[in-house]
Amino acid sequence: MKVLNYGSLNYDYVYAVDHMVQAGETLSSASMETHFGGKGLNQSIALARAGAQTCHAGMVGEDGRDLIAVCKESGVNTDYISLHEGRSGHAVIQINSQGENCILLFRGANGKNSEKKIKEVLSHFERGDVLLMQNEVNLPEEIIREAFERGMKIALNPSPMDERILGCSLDKVSLFLLNEVEGRQLTGQTGIEGMAEKLREMYPRAEIVLTAGKRGCIYSGEKGSFSCASFTVDAVDTTAAGDTFTGYYIASMLQGKSVEECLRTASAAAAIAVTRKGAVSSIPQREEVEAFFDFRL
Ligand code: RIB
Repeated sequence: MKVLNYGSLNYDYVYAVDHMVQAGETLSSASMETHFGGKGLNQSIALARAGAQTCHAGMVGEDGRDLIAVCKESGVNTDYISLHEGRSGHAVIQINSQGENCILLFRGANGKNSEKKIKEVLSHFERGDVLLMQNEVNLPEEIIREAFERGMKIALNPSPMDERILGCSLDKVSLFLLNEVEGRQLTGQTGIEGMAEKLREMYPRAEIVLTAGKRGCIYSGEKGSFSCASFTVDAVDTTAAGDTFTGYYIASMLQGKSVEECLRTASAAAAIAVTRKGAVSSIPQREEVEAFFDFRL
């Protein structure tokens, strides 16, 4: 069983600020760093570091060879990443003194996928394989449709949430992984339990995994209802914590772990990620997650 993650690859330009810049304000940053990122790339690397056989599909620009290289170095199959003229996607990220972020996206090559490419990529996958998607590449509906027709299990992290993803055939999704902001946007509910219940009503064949940062995470689906408290750590940068969680949850699920183990492993990986700067650079190796558990015992 293979995982195909069809998603974005970005350069992240990260600025350390005292507070997020306000409308009309000019603000100096304390530092600027460039990291590899993109919700797609981060989730592929989290999957691979967690031990899942992972293929990434997407597009990079003429400046994107380093994005492909970091996938390869992490053990992600890059056969389905294509080059397009122009620039790769990038994100301008502010990190404040509490480690919170604000992200501005430039889509670049992430917006250049074609129906022809989607069909070609998906033709290499079959029933039982997993398609993972976020909402940072163009043509999400076409990707979902092709994967569904092939009998793939579709996992969706509907992030960043917008009208376009809300308009997709979300009834074809088997697993939603989302945070409470996205849960509220999808359901109109406020508490995560209410959101999970509403999502189960809206998409009865789907499993739901909802994260609520420091307040932990929950699962609701055919296997029952489960929750997991978050691990207490000193956060320096929350970028890619959700991506790390998603990659580790899916990898653990494919390794046959129980829902409780999947939630716990994904929460531990995300907790490690927030103690480190950057996106890809913050995602732990599987051994580090195991050592984190040993240390906590
Ligand atoms: O989820 C974090 C990611 O969101 C960053 O790496 C940035 O590239 C944006 O896509």
